[in-house]
Amino acid sequence: MTAARPVLQVEGLRKVFGDRVVLDGLGLTAAEHSCTALIGASGSGKSTLLRCIDLLEVVDDGVIELDGEDITDPRVDANTVRTRIGLVFQSFNLFPHLRVIDNVTLALRRVHKVDRDKAEADGLAMLERVGLRDRAGARPDELSGGQQQRVAVARALVTRPRLMLFDEVTSALDPELVGEVLALVRELRDDGMTMLLATHEMGFARDVADQVCFLEGGRVLEQGPPEQVLGDPGAPHAAVPAAHHRRRPALNLPGAPLRQ
Ligand SMILES: Nc1ncnc2c1ncn2[C@@H]1O[C@H](COP(=O)(O)OP(=O)(O)OP(=O)(O)O)[C@@H](O)[C@H]1O
Ligand SMILES: [Mg+2]
Repeated sequence: MTAARPVLQVEGLRKVFGDRVVLDGLGLTAAEHSCTALIGASGSGKSTLLRCIDLLEVVDDGVIELDGEDITDPRVDANTVRTRIGLVFQSFNLFPHLRVIDNVTLALRRVHKVDRDKAEADGLAMLERVGLRDRAGARPDELSGGQQQRVAVARALVTRPRLMLFDEVTSALDPELVGEVLALVRELRDDGMTMLLATHEMGFARDVADQVCFLEGGRVLEQGPPEQVLGDPGAPHAAVPAAHHRRRPALNLPGAPLRQ
């Protein structure tokens, strides 16, 4: 192991909407291969933080370093940065008129200029990993919510990002579909993907995260291992749905393994 530089380092991040200070000098660090759970009350700034990291918001102050590069520098090309970051939202944001495979390969073809055959091969391999290769030709509305969210994960993964951001990826799902998506997130974590996930699922945060950041008022109030930040695992809200433990084929990305 090298004493590696963190994949993500956020310092003094400030974001203001009108007269509302939403991020107020927020700082956090995510080491390579680590999983960081962002928890905190509604409105505490979790989604805004993820959107700032993906450069979907212009920050008012502070620094966001991805692999040591300050991506808030105005000279940085946001689209190039975004190809190094995968973001999965609560609502899947799939294009309804495009087949599953075309949703997954769109960025590869449009942003990365990968030719159609190669993009399709990579896309199918990624769909295989999320257990949906046989649905490649379907339209999103022919899939369940859990399946659509797995397509959204495949779409984010296909560009082989350095960092994955998950924003409440199970909160729009029916309870019986939550487990399959959480299982997928867990497998990615096990494969060594560096990830940040905003979640209200305390049991899952405890189970999957290496560190938990508790946000309040746009700051990280506490950052530490789950048992330190979340306390007693015996609390009733900490129960992990059994479906999380369902196994799925290994999620190694096509090409080089995530963990080197
Ligand atoms: N585009 C915007 N314009 C104005 N205010 C915004 C905007 N986006 C977010 N906010 C405000 O910023 C604050 C933080 O919102 P954010 O969505 O980051 O919270 P959150 O922690 O993700 O909450 P939740 O748990 O409900 O998802 C809220 O008060 C919200 O109203
Ligand atoms: Mg949110």
